[in-house]
Amino acid sequence: MQCVIRPMTLDDVPGAERVSDEGFYELDTRVPRPWETAPARRSEAHRAVWIERTRHVVETDPGGCWVAEDDTGLVGMVTSLRRETLWCLATYAVLPGRQGQGIGKPLLAAALDHGRACTRGMLSSSADPKAVRIYRQAGFDLHPQMYLTGTVDRSAIPVVEKVREGSAGDVDLMDSLDRVTRGAGHGPDHALMLRTWRLLVTDTSTGSGYAYLDERGRLGLLAASNRRTAVRLLWATLAEATGEATVPHVTGANQWVLDVGFAARLDLHQEGYLGLRGMKPPAPYVHNGALL
Ligand SMILES: CC(C)(COP(=O)(O)OP(=O)(O)OC[C@H]1O[C@@H](n2cnc3c(N)ncnc32)[C@H](O)[C@@H]1OP(=O)(O)O)[C@@H](O)C(=O)NCCC(=O)NCCS
Repeated sequence: MQCVIRPMTLDDVPGAERVSDEGFYELDTRVPRPWETAPARRSEAHRAVWIERTRHVVETDPGGCWVAEDDTGLVGMVTSLRRETLWCLATYAVLPGRQGQGIGKPLLAAALDHGRACTRGMLSSSADPKAVRIYRQAGFDLHPQMYLTGTVDRSAIPVVEKVREGSAGDVDLMDSLDRVTRGAGHGPDHALMLRTWRLLVTDTSTGSGYAYLDERGRLGLLAASNRRTAVRLLWATLAEATGEATVPHVTGANQWVLDVGFAARLDLHQEGYLGLRGMKPPAPYVHNGALL
């Protein structure tokens, strides 16, 4: 069947969400995580955040967002963004029944073309064998990702001082921390994260850093000027956890996260890869899956 690749519009976003949900649900079923509860479809709350984030990326980077379409409707989608000299892949999926038929590769090529002038690239890859094959072929180094889950041992939480709620007034500080750790600010993405998530900031004579807690209360993103400050911030986010805590997207360059996680009695798992081009794994830093 004839399949065309064309730029994604705001009207395509709900359809793209369905493609992505189908794709990731099928992946979770195909590559199960035995230590987790059964795979589930995206919740309404998560869907709303996904749609808001994708609308934001289509608005900031119309040239980085593409769909694949045939007579049946949307069958594939990709979103990507440029921030200063960094290109990031936000989301990428093809409908389960249509994978492995050559739809995904030209979609990613269109998104990569949006970043052709960028000196750096970042993506957070799933464990899908097709995805990792494509990313390596596109020149990305693959760094295994770990994550920690469990119930925080509250008696292990140290007293953490000088961490406050953040606001739009912290964006310059956050962008400069982003530049030191990953080589580029998040720029307009901070406005999106401030709108949807909770921000914690620390800024003292010994160091500065910030952490977002996402809509599910998980660590969404963390950057700091040094490890000690990063450790304090991570404890502050774990202190906020109610029920099951998750610290996702930990690379080998951030062993300090494991020290905190083990002290909090969390369990360590592995999932996916941080894909990097033209850069080393950021540290002290915990990336976000889509906004990197
Ligand atoms: C990753 C994804 C978007 C790629 O799209 P796609 O249409 O399947 O990709 P293509 O068919 O263009 O290319 C797939 C490549 O993997 C190869 N491949 C196909 N089936 C494979 C399998 N079972 N195992 C390993 N490689 C496989 C293909 O041969 C091709 O490589 P080649 O061109 O070098 O031969 C799609 O598979 C998907 O949605 N996966 C689930 C969601 C996901 O993981 N998204 C990425 C998030 S980071």
